[in-house]
Amino acid sequence: MDFAVNFLIKSAIKYKKNKLIICMKLVFATNNANKIEEVKNLVSDNIQIISLNEAGFMGEIPEEFETLEKNSSQKAWYIYHLLGMNCFADDTGLEAEALNNAPGVYSARYSRIGNDTFSNLDLVEGNICKLLDNLKNSGNRRAKFRTVISLILEGKEYQFEGEVLGIILKEKRGNKGFGYDPVFLPDGYSKSFAEMDLKEKNSISHRYLAISKLVGFLNNL
Ligand code: IMP
Repeated sequence: MDFAVNFLIKSAIKYKKNKLIICMKLVFATNNANKIEEVKNLVSDNIQIISLNEAGFMGEIPEEFETLEKNSSQKAWYIYHLLGMNCFADDTGLEAEALNNAPGVYSARYSRIGNDTFSNLDLVEGNICKLLDNLKNSGNRRAKFRTVISLILEGKEYQFEGEVLGIILKEKRGNKGFGYDPVFLPDGYSKSFAEMDLKEKNSISHRYLAISKLVGFLNNL
């Protein structure tokens, strides 16, 4: 009985090309449709990626730590314990060398930290303005985007990291992408992330590199 229940919770059956495939259900602890799609396209047929919505989770996941490693780990363990399903979570930050790796884990809400002029701006605009302002007197514009993924599989944790090195531009360039893309110029490229097509950015991005490592691991199970 235990085995049957465990099987139902953790496995799914797919029918593809006249074949029944038993696959592992894996919750991706996000509701970001782009991220879900990106991973679904990369994993092999024996893994079924499930979003938080699909898993029936509608709440907030705690993110209380000061590193990407600890936050992604906290998110993944939280969902693993709550749903009793294998899962993974990601956390990303932009780390500027001259700012002791800020905004880092606070990238999403950088402009809301402290009570300055940037906190009144639109969130993304404020984040970028604050970053450019904090770097305006610095000769060092080196930075990197870093993604950490924590996977919890049968109670054991594995982490995967992807990073892209580059510089922070003095002004915004391009209108594609999201977040800090307009001010990030990856090493070896003459276009900012926001000047690249999604396909080009996704083929070199921090997230893609971390996801590729996760997928390589899963596909070899
Ligand atoms: P998340 O952990 O993927 O939600 O990312 C946290 C924050 O980092 C986002 O809200 C963005 O501000 C920033 N960020 C993450 N990935 C990217 C990216 O690929 N381009 C630009 N900004 C990003």
